[in-house]
Amino acid sequence: MKRIIAGNWKLHKNPEETRGFFTELLKKTEFRSDRELVFFPPATNLESTAQSLKAGSILWGSQNCCHEVKGAFTGEISAQTISYLGGRVVLIGHSERRTLFHETDELIAKKVRLAQSLDLTPYLCIGETLEERESGKTLDILKKQIIEGLKESDSSKSLVLAYEPVWAIGTGRVASLEQIQEVHLFIRDFLIQRGFSKETPLLYGGSVKPENASEIGLIPNVNGFLIGGASLEVESILKIYQA
Ligand code: PGA
Repeated sequence: MKRIIAGNWKLHKNPEETRGFFTELLKKTEFRSDRELVFFPPATNLESTAQSLKAGSILWGSQNCCHEVKGAFTGEISAQTISYLGGRVVLIGHSERRTLFHETDELIAKKVRLAQSLDLTPYLCIGETLEERESGKTLDILKKQIIEGLKESDSSKSLVLAYEPVWAIGTGRVASLEQIQEVHLFIRDFLIQRGFSKETPLLYGGSVKPENASEIGLIPNVNGFLIGGASLEVESILKIYQA
């Protein structure tokens, strides 16, 4: 299984900065056949991303998509257009979408289904809050997010799961190696039980940096990373890619 190094830019960079970033990245990257580089720029920069990454050695997609193909959905992002532009992946259910934009598991399930029907690989994000962790509910919460988020999914289509503890996102506070190991093993077993491929990539996200990536990457069932802050600079994402 290829290791996935995925960058989530959130609401950072304009089209010009996007082009500059990818020009520098393509110049500096020594591509490895056992690793996959993936980027999720803001939707407004997908066209400049498509132009910059025409060569196809880097996968890219959107940080969100609408649950319907088209219609009266003001402000939404079309999954069909992501695919039309050459995008292959889409982040779904990131904790910021769940919290700030009130996305429910039900809506997330529809997005997963639509993405798969268009042959976009959904990167479904799951994770517990600090309160849920401290009250011992982590695995129950993750189980619910998996069951409900994948309720309408097609287990024969590609899927990536990203475990991102909410309290570790953008906080500099990383989950411990034991915590990550426990959760990833749990997710792996649970997905297999539910008929998903044992090759489904499981990513860890939450304050991944060049300094901690090697260590986290060695944990069993960690098949890559979803990286926010450290994906904004060419040097830091490349250090993680090469780690
Ligand atoms: P972070 O963000 O790496 O800045 O913690 C991760 C994410 O939100 O995907």
